[in-house]
Amino acid sequence: MKLAILTGGGDCPGMNAFIRSVARSAWNLLPECEVWGVLDGWRGLLEKSYRRLEPVDTAGISALGGTILGTLRMPSLRTNAEERRAIAENFIAGEFDALCVCGGNGSLAAACDLNDTLHTFDQHRPVLFTAASIDNDVANIYGTSLGFYSAIDRSLEMLGWIRDTASAHRRVYIIGSMGRRSAWLPFYAGIAAGAEYVIRPDEHVDFEAIADMIDTRERDTRIIVSEAYPKTLEEIKAIVENALERRRSEHEIRTVDMGYFQRGGGASVSDVLRADWLGFHMVRGLLEEECASSLFGAFNIGTPPNRVPLAEALRPEANYDDIPREVVEMALALR
Ligand code: F6P
Repeated sequence: MKLAILTGGGDCPGMNAFIRSVARSAWNLLPECEVWGVLDGWRGLLEKSYRRLEPVDTAGISALGGTILGTLRMPSLRTNAEERRAIAENFIAGEFDALCVCGGNGSLAAACDLNDTLHTFDQHRPVLFTAASIDNDVANIYGTSLGFYSAIDRSLEMLGWIRDTASAHRRVYIIGSMGRRSAWLPFYAGIAAGAEYVIRPDEHVDFEAIADMIDTRERDTRIIVSEAYPKTLEEIKAIVENALERRRSEHEIRTVDMGYFQRGGGASVSDVLRADWLGFHMVRGLLEEECASSLFGAFNIGTPPNRVPLAEALRPEANYDDIPREVVEMALALR
């Protein structure tokens, strides 16, 4: 068998553990298996850019951030049917028998499309996918994206550092978080760090209540703002300053964006273990006589992963942008 691995979308910790898990499981479980890395995500399939992987390539990479295979964004894939067709043709011409992908929403759509196109060519070549995105916004009813917990770890470090200064100077910090349209990363990072408030993307924010809360604080306040919230950090700062001024209350407010730092650095234990688990299960799936293209998702190692057709994973109902109500209730109870 000739197996290809592709990492797509934004890089994130956990991708390298996934590459290692798929490759090593394949060498150990699939008879005479060649493992190839597709370079730079979907562009690699478009430009026939691949590299044969050897065991030494996967040594010691589990916890490394980024992806050793590279990943370039390819927004054109959404609209360019010719590119999508060329990808399927190149996949067949490359004589790959199966593809294991980890990536974000765009990659899930591309994987689904590749599978459909292969079928129109009457080719049965499994395309197996798992979510990898710090945003945890890919079919999250079936499992937690690789990279999500690592990004929380990273945020936690930064929120701790900010707290040192906030507390020393009795300051309020308004802190931007990545996460795109989803509230998962800012909210879970906020809970873990004990931040005072997290503004979710679609929230109708009561800034007067926030000003009241700031007023009761002895030393530091950290307010985390989701990436897709429609006001900038500076606009939020101005609104809160205004509300505090009206109360004749004096608080120094600063803004800072955690942004790309959240995506970098080493992988968390949880992301590595899920990557190991999912990669192993994908390869085991390839041993089946008619392995169907599917998304593999897991919330943890140890219980059988969810496995659903790619088209089903793409349904909007397969993903919650907002976090469960009960988690919000817990956060309120922990204030
Ligand atoms: O999807 C992961 C993510 O980090 C989002 O949180 C963010 O909006 C986006 O990628 C940034 O993408 P890029 O690296 O292409 O600017």
